Amino acid sequence: MIKRLFDWLKQPLGLIAVGIAFLALFSLAAYGIFQSQQSPAQPIQFPHATHAARGLQCLYCHPGAARGPSAGIPAQAKCWACHQQIQKTLDSQLADTQFPLLKPLVAAVTSNTPLEWVPVAMVPDFVQFNHRAHVAAGQNCENCHGDMTKVTVAENPQVFNMGFCLNCHKKVAGENHELLVKLTDCGTCHY
Ligand code: HEC
Ligand code: HEC
Ligand code: HEC
Ligand code: HEC
Ligand code: HEC
Repeated sequence: MIKRLFDWLKQPLGLIAVGIAFLALFSLAAYGIFQSQQSPAQPIQFPHATHAARGLQCLYCHPGAARGPSAGIPAQAKCWACHQQIQKTLDSQLADTQFPLLKPLVAAVTSNTPLEWVPVAMVPDFVQFNHRAHVAAGQNCENCHGDMTKVTVAENPQVFNMGFCLNCHKKVAGENHELLVKLTDCGTCHY
């Protein structure tokens, strides 16, 4: 049975079939990778670039990064504090046409329903990560998240695997053996 299958596969038609099977598998894999690197559908197409260009600091909206494990995503009240003022300078009709992207924000504020942001930067639950230790050690947001000041909707960076953490930890430790042992010890990140 198997021998007959191999004989068939060696014929031109069989080779074409194998080729097609490989192509199908390959494009499926490529599609999967493409999908996983797309920005997820966010409740608002929040543009980081626009806000950074106005001089807003990362920590203004993500203060948790300096204080604890999670950076946090700002609640709509923080957005509205600014955007209500901006809207006030326009009459309501003009506000709608000039800022179409803001409609979901206005709707969320009016109906008092929180915005459900979809996380993109994540490590699995069995990994211990704490922003504060890194920010306190002088690591910039950019070192791990790339240049967010150029980003419109945040994308999945796809970089938070074990090698990503360990590469930097080894670099940081350098010749300091004690620190190297601590920063590469399994128990430092998994407990
Ligand atoms: C005006 C507020 C604001 C400012 C300023 C801001 N962010 Fe954000 N950030 C957000 C909001 C809202 C989201 C959620 C929407 C999204 O993911 O696109 C977000 C998402 C992110 C994410 C993805 C997190 C996740 O998993 O969803 C990262 C990383 C991030 N911001 C980093 C930064 C950095 C670095 C800076 C400074 C260059 C910065 N942000 C400045 C509001 C802000
Ligand atoms: C410190 C003030 C400030 C805060 C806080 C702020 N924004 Fe903005 N936002 C601005 C300014 C200024 C603009 C540019 C408006 C313009 O183009 O004239 C802007 C533009 C935008 C736009 C683009 C509008 C369009 O239609 O082009 C969106 C969407 C937006 N903000 C959403 C948000 C959200 C969501 C939050 C909260 C996470 C937020 N903003 C927090 C000041 C702020
Ligand atoms: C050493 C690498 C590193 C640095 C530096 C770093 N981050 Fe992160 N960030 C991560 C990792 C890893 C996650 C995923 C954490 C998780 O899943 O708990 C993350 C998650 C986030 C998130 C998602 C939401 C949340 O509550 O955690 C935001 C927003 C964010 N970071 C913003 C920032 C900002 C702003 C800075 C700079 C002040 C910064 N990060 C610095 C690695 C880093
Ligand atoms: C860009 C460099 C960089 C990356 C990437 C990085 N770290 Fe770190 N990490 C540091 C530095 C610097 C320290 C502080 C070292 C010291 O104690 O002087 C640190 C310390 C730590 C500590 C010890 C914190 C404490 O309380 O003392 C843990 C846990 C940790 N990192 C986890 C992670 C994990 C998990 C990742 C990947 C998701 C990661 N780190 C990625 C630079 C990095
Ligand atoms: C600096 C932080 C850090 C250290 C130290 C570390 N890990 Fe990890 N580990 C991670 C992160 C982050 C992931 C998540 C990988 C992912 O999501 O792809 C991970 C994932 C894993 C996984 C799940 C399988 C996988 O590849 O996704 C295993 C098993 C694991 N680590 C074992 C270990 C062992 C054993 C050690 C000690 C030799 C160790 N780790 C040290 C950060 C670390």
